[in-house]
Amino acid sequence: MTAVVLQSLESGAADAARLAARLGIPCHTIEVHRFPDGELRVRVGPAAPTTILYASLDQPNDKLISLIFAAEALRRGGTQRLVLVAPYLCYMRQDTAFSPGEAISQTVIGRLLAGAFDRIITMDAHLHRTPTLDAVFPGIETLNLSAIPAIAEYLAAAGLDPRSVAVGPDAESEPWVGDLGSRLGIDHVVARKTRHGDRSVQITLPDGVKIAGRPVVLFDDIVSSGGTIMACATILQAAGAARVDVVVTHALFPDAMLKTFAEAGIASVRSTSSVPHLSNAIRLDGLLAQALAGEPTRPS
Ligand code: R5P
Repeated sequence: MTAVVLQSLESGAADAARLAARLGIPCHTIEVHRFPDGELRVRVGPAAPTTILYASLDQPNDKLISLIFAAEALRRGGTQRLVLVAPYLCYMRQDTAFSPGEAISQTVIGRLLAGAFDRIITMDAHLHRTPTLDAVFPGIETLNLSAIPAIAEYLAAAGLDPRSVAVGPDAESEPWVGDLGSRLGIDHVVARKTRHGDRSVQITLPDGVKIAGRPVVLFDDIVSSGGTIMACATILQAAGAARVDVVVTHALFPDAMLKTFAEAGIASVRSTSSVPHLSNAIRLDGLLAQALAGEPTRPS
């Protein structure tokens, strides 16, 4: 039996294959069949003592069920250590009941996945009010990587204008945009955001920031409805930005929205491979392979 194998859901198959190739381990795509009534049947590949499951959890509901079914089949097949690599981790933003009666989705998903896996590796999990990933997944190993090193390396290699300023749209983006600015040796600015609804936000820039005539790298961890990026790009353009290029870790918006961004004067939108998307430009398999390097490669 091979000591470690990687298995992935169909949606991440290309990224999973690249990761497996880097690790030098076999890769298998899990088969998911949808019955006419909507129920799913999951068929995994041969289990190994350590099995890495690769599944980015955008559009998560069916994927969560598939993962839990796959975990059951793999454990029964002989897997002792089950590692989930989920570059995008779903439901992390609903970390409190914002109004009476709301479920705290983050807690529910945390318990569900902690019951199925021994280790969870993700990328820039949206932990706003929750201190660490360990608090989300009680009792198992967790690793919350940052995509910023890969993003900075990509932007530096692409020949970033040294007069550029990195901008984050809200207070939550501060750690990421600060790290990005210092890695690239450029200024960074954090705007203020007030959210009025799912697709409606208001952004203001802090007083005294100098944007006029400078290129802007507008960074957000997640782009979903696109409302935050559009509102932020609009005020940056009004402030005289020479150009606005967007970089995002988790591209959750529809591919077709790229046209809307372009029509709004955004020069480019580039995302990491966390979520398969037309805007993918920055690969994460190097960071993920490093994180997985300690997994046992020989049968114990
Ligand atoms: C929220 O706090 C996140 O960092 C993103 O700013 C947010 O999820 C973006 O959502 P949308 O694209 O729907 O404005």
